[in-house]
Amino acid sequence: MEATAKGRDRVDDYISQGVRGFWLPVATSVQIKTGKPLARKIAGENLVLWRDGADKVRCVEDFCPHRGAKLSLGHVQDGNLACGYHGVTVDGEGTVVRVPAMPDCALEGRKALTYYECAEAGGAVFIYLPSADRPEAPEFVPPVEFTNGEWEVFPCMTYWDCSYRFSLDNAADPMHASYLHADSFTLAYGSKQDTMKLDRKDKGFQIERVNQKGVNFDWTEVVMDEGTLFFRLDIPYPDGAGPGGPFRIIGFATPVDEHTHYSFFWRCREVQGLAAESWRFLYRAFLEDRHWHVLEQDRRMLESIPEDARRREMLYQHDIGVSRLRQMLVRRAKEHFKALDAQETAGAQSA
Ligand code: FES
Ligand SMILES: [Fe+2]
Repeated sequence: MEATAKGRDRVDDYISQGVRGFWLPVATSVQIKTGKPLARKIAGENLVLWRDGADKVRCVEDFCPHRGAKLSLGHVQDGNLACGYHGVTVDGEGTVVRVPAMPDCALEGRKALTYYECAEAGGAVFIYLPSADRPEAPEFVPPVEFTNGEWEVFPCMTYWDCSYRFSLDNAADPMHASYLHADSFTLAYGSKQDTMKLDRKDKGFQIERVNQKGVNFDWTEVVMDEGTLFFRLDIPYPDGAGPGGPFRIIGFATPVDEHTHYSFFWRCREVQGLAAESWRFLYRAFLEDRHWHVLEQDRRMLESIPEDARRREMLYQHDIGVSRLRQMLVRRAKEHFKALDAQETAGAQSA
């Protein structure tokens, strides 16, 4: 019994710290400025990001191989990162390239730090956080709205004082809009009662209201494929909100540690050319503030939930999306531990 209980805690603790094996957004592209390193804690790990000589984002552990100072306190030099303490310099693959205080130092050429694959899409920077079962980064396939040229997308990033798991639960629960956001510009419509329906898909699932579609935030698609986990939802827009169909949100939740996370939202509209310009203007001038207001409602509610609420919550039919999403995370966590245990067994046998 104890082993089972321990096993369950191990899986749950791992999920709380941050399920690995995914590409995660960690910053907006504009936050990583040329010449200036940026510190980020992701899933409990201290990392540093910067742009190299070709403007490509690089990411390594935020730890100087010399005596451990934070590299994020240093500066970018010739595309590499120089520590602020004694100038030891590493490249984007974590290899020491220079020890300026000592000519021909033996540290030069030493592979010293873990590095992380980086990619940019939709105006944000993503890194791949490897898991035991997925040590190599799969191809990064961003949501199609970021790449097909038909959508205008605005990235937005928030830091919330609660587990990323609550943000994922929140997205898999469309019904909350009719209550929590009932005072909002676009989420005040429709009935306040319904039944939920869940359709499994190749990559994840869709959760939707049975009796209402195209009135409010009535459905969410949760996508979990080889290398990404995100959600997509539509909010119908009144005519006053400019050109394009519904307002679409693409969301990712990036764990900082078990207690806090970054919520990333892309606000998307299917518009091009002049319509895109008009949407951009309307968005900046009128709509953005309203969206922050709605997000604040989510933030306050999620930050009010105790971390261990799972132990005594009472789910009902509307939570089938929440349950499904949690099962998917548990499955990925178990794949990680299966690989980890196999590696440990192999290591013990060869020792
Ligand atoms: S601690 Fe970084 S150079 Fe000495
Ligand atoms: Fe919400």
